[in-house]
Amino acid sequence: MQNHDVLHRELGKSGISASVVGLGTWAIGGWMWGGTDEAKSIAAIQASVDAGISLIDTAPAYGQGVAEEIVGKALVGRRDKVVLATKCGLVWHTQKGNHFFDYDGKPVHRYLGKDAIIYEVEQSLMRLKTDYIDHYITHWQDPTTPIAETMEALETLKQQGKIRSIGASNTSVPEIKDYIAAGTLDAVQEEYSMVKRDLEADIAPLCVENDVSILSYSSLALGLLSGKMGPDRQFSGDDQRKDNPRFSLSNREKVAQLMQAVSAIAEEHGATPAQTVIAWTLQQPGITFSLCGARDASQAEENAAAARLRLSQQDINAIEQAAQRHLVDLDS
Ligand SMILES: NC(=O)c1ccc[n+]([C@@H]2O[C@H](COP(=O)([O-])OP(=O)(O)OC[C@H]3O[C@@H](n4cnc5c(N)ncnc54)[C@H](OP(=O)(O)O)[C@@H]3O)[C@@H](O)[C@H]2O)c1
Repeated sequence: MQNHDVLHRELGKSGISASVVGLGTWAIGGWMWGGTDEAKSIAAIQASVDAGISLIDTAPAYGQGVAEEIVGKALVGRRDKVVLATKCGLVWHTQKGNHFFDYDGKPVHRYLGKDAIIYEVEQSLMRLKTDYIDHYITHWQDPTTPIAETMEALETLKQQGKIRSIGASNTSVPEIKDYIAAGTLDAVQEEYSMVKRDLEADIAPLCVENDVSILSYSSLALGLLSGKMGPDRQFSGDDQRKDNPRFSLSNREKVAQLMQAVSAIAEEHGATPAQTVIAWTLQQPGITFSLCGARDASQAEENAAAARLRLSQQDINAIEQAAQRHLVDLDS
């Protein structure tokens, strides 16, 4: 692999620069991933930072504070090395807003009212052991609160120095337009990978036009595109992949065929298939950062090194052809 000077990009208009590969900490929170191992999680976070990852993404919802607390512990003495992103808007301290799901039998609502945002930011700062958040993101959109009210709260937090930039996640085109009209939206965070490409049609061009970064999430399709998801892999506990049609045996076979083509390209670059998938993601129009989850130090190091891999147009065309051939009629 060659070392290109493309390891960092700007986060919207914020003036903040972050590593193109970001560490995601949903699995580190344990919830929907069959539990977590704190020591391995801390090792994954610290290995990421040591390998040059500066973008760390978390959320209160990841284990109702568990992921943020682990991130806080892992970053003691390393806080100044990272661009820390967390979220608001999935709440369990109030039942205002719109009921979304239950966690341990208790309701979680989508709520982005000013009162909740002011409350939530203090909780996150405490769990993360910091006095500022570099990138603060509305996690899911709340149909009961006008985006202008949400943005007013976020802009106030920015003026107070508690947050440094603003993001929105799981958005639609009209919602992005409302955010842009109401303040400075630096980034959106949306699911994007070789098996989930909806945003190419409308969100990506809108973001490019308005200088809004895109953080792709589930870039490895929850591990399906890691190159290590064989037919024998079983999932336990509350691991969301257990009943997810995306992980059906027929999908795994189709993806294995795609990964043969990806592996051939990976080998030419002295890279792994997962690194090639991440590099592909980062070279798609409009995608600024690629968030990848990692459960341990070795996954974290593998994913971090993908930032240095640069695919040729010929590589990208070959992957595109393989995707068109093998990813038809995927279960989803
Ligand atoms: N805004 C939102 O609503 C939202 C939604 C989803 C995710 N996100 C963010 O985006 C981040 C990334 O997405 P994600 O975690 O959902 O999915 P992902 O990055 O596609 O997959 C992560 C999982 O894949 C496996 N994996 C990762 N790297 C690997 C490697 N090098 N080799 C083998 N297996 C590997 C690990 O699981 P196993 O080892 O268990 O197989 C890991 O937990 C999240 O952590 C979160 O920060 C945000």
